[in-house]
Amino acid sequence: MARSGIGPNNVVGVVPTMGGLHEGHLALVDAARSECSVVIVTIFVNPMQFGPSEDFENYPRELEDDSRMLVQRGVDLLFAPSVDEMYPNGRDHHSVVMLPHLTGVLCGRNRPGHFDGVATVVSKLFNIVQPNTAYLGQKDWQQLTIIRAMVRDLDFPLRVVGVPTVRDSRGLALSSRNNYLSVDERAKAPLLYTELARLRDRVLQGEVKYTELESQACKALEDDGFTPDYISVRESHTLKVANSHSKNRRVFGAALLGKARLIDNLAIDS
Ligand code: PAF
Repeated sequence: MARSGIGPNNVVGVVPTMGGLHEGHLALVDAARSECSVVIVTIFVNPMQFGPSEDFENYPRELEDDSRMLVQRGVDLLFAPSVDEMYPNGRDHHSVVMLPHLTGVLCGRNRPGHFDGVATVVSKLFNIVQPNTAYLGQKDWQQLTIIRAMVRDLDFPLRVVGVPTVRDSRGLALSSRNNYLSVDERAKAPLLYTELARLRDRVLQGEVKYTELESQACKALEDDGFTPDYISVRESHTLKVANSHSKNRRVFGAALLGKARLIDNLAIDS
């Protein structure tokens, strides 16, 4: 899919994805389309960011449907490489980009190596595509923070834009992994958002015992059939544990519901 030539005066925007596209991804495309003369979407289910017992094999692969949606949304070019093209010598013989100060917490605690895989593949995609701007979703705030830090630390000549999370009418953040939810689970899934919003409101009302609030939110999710990984109030930019004196607080949550690992986060301070 290639609609326009890429010349020296074009501003190139990239939207890195793993496919299984939904309105959340399309919001990234729209943001890129509104600012860039050339919009490139990448679709690559990156084996390096999946643990051995994770859903690499089952991750949605819907290249034809995805491609149709991207044409309708005015994307200029789709880059969908194979695993062999990206890792010709195998993933075990490949340089790795690591940001240990940001990757060992939150989702990184129970997904060792996940963010190394993300940082590595995103750095490769940036080098291949050579964009001026990259568009990533705020739903995975930790990923966004890691990519921003990587771009800054390794001097990638590009700007990173974080696009607000797209939610359904009950607050559930759109995600390709929502496809794994049964009908019953789908009805419960917005409770992750509800608990994060409740916790945010209690912090804004002046409650200061964050650990207690986090435990209460985990308990409420457990009672509803979730297996929480964490609920945690952190500083937005450093991902360090926050307290009532912190600025830019944000509440993060991740929980398993059936086969789906759901993640979400909400800003506390605007
Ligand atoms: O968020 C995603 O879809 C992936 O982690 C990304 C950024 C495309 C890297 O594989």
